[in-house]
Amino acid sequence: MGVISHDVRDPSTPDRNLALELVRVTEAAALAAARWVGRGDKESADQAAVDAMRLLLDTVPMDGVVVIGEGEKDEAPMLYNGEAIGDGSPPEVDIAVDPLEGTRLCARGMPSALSVIALAERGTMFDPGPCVYMEKIAGGPEIADLLSLEEPLADVIRKVAERKGTTPEGVTVIMLDRERHAEKVKEIREVGARIRFITDGDVSAALFAVTGSGAVDLLWGIGGTPEGVISAAAIKCLGGRILGRLWPRDDRERDAAIAAGYDLDEILDQDRLVAGDNVFFAATGVTDGELLQGVRYLSGGKASTESLIMRSRSGTVRTVRATHDRAKLREITGGRYG
Ligand code: FBP
Repeated sequence: MGVISHDVRDPSTPDRNLALELVRVTEAAALAAARWVGRGDKESADQAAVDAMRLLLDTVPMDGVVVIGEGEKDEAPMLYNGEAIGDGSPPEVDIAVDPLEGTRLCARGMPSALSVIALAERGTMFDPGPCVYMEKIAGGPEIADLLSLEEPLADVIRKVAERKGTTPEGVTVIMLDRERHAEKVKEIREVGARIRFITDGDVSAALFAVTGSGAVDLLWGIGGTPEGVISAAAIKCLGGRILGRLWPRDDRERDAAIAAGYDLDEILDQDRLVAGDNVFFAATGVTDGELLQGVRYLSGGKASTESLIMRSRSGTVRTVRATHDRAKLREITGGRYG
């Protein structure tokens, strides 16, 4: 009789254990960033999160390439695009990271700063190229088929209201508070819907919109393209829908995108933004938010974290609460977090 291999897994398919490994990565980044909450220094907060994330990422058994790093827009200390991550063993994966999503939220001690990572099979994550912004709309499963970036937003709101058995006055749109949204703000108010502005953090807002808490019905806005891809990864696990369309800031960016072969009219749904069907996602709260509790410092030198970990293939969504011994972590990591 021949020898039967015990490793029948396709090596290019991420192993389910990765979701549980990834939470350590976002916990570490959140603990590192939390030291900077409310201290008015977003660069140091981001740097601390990046360093802690990188430290833990290299322990994860994977052959990863960063497709979505973050920092070009703000010249932040990033995990750069194309950087090889993990211990180099299979599976081969694309990685999207945002070690600190909401750097200003963290620096100013405001709600909903997160540390986030998403993984999918190699070659399946959308590379935004030169486009740092994307127009986005997102909502939960109940209204997924009604979302559109081509129809007037007022019409989408009317349909959402009807589906939800209410009027436009009963619909709330969450969006970044930005000058570039002025026209849409007018349109939303004219149709009668409410707006809930946020100063930053549209990943957290997208997740809030799709999880159907009832507090908000829709996310709309022009925000970071990396955040769009990361939100898409999460929505593939949670259900609901996100649509995006690249939004060049100026002619130079538009020309560069066209020259690189991007179709600026293309509507990108979550399966285009993250084409893989085995997506892993982990997020840990840095500051308290609707989605997750932030890092809390407890007596006895401990700290607590709350994280969301999810996998698209199984649809399992876990909330993980952890207590950390800060002195021990500082000892193990040479003071990099804890
Ligand atoms: P950072 O974490 O990089 O500071 O990004 C926060 C954020 O608010 C994102 O959630 C959002 O997509 C993007 O910035 C919006 O960009 P801008 O602040 O340039 O309008």
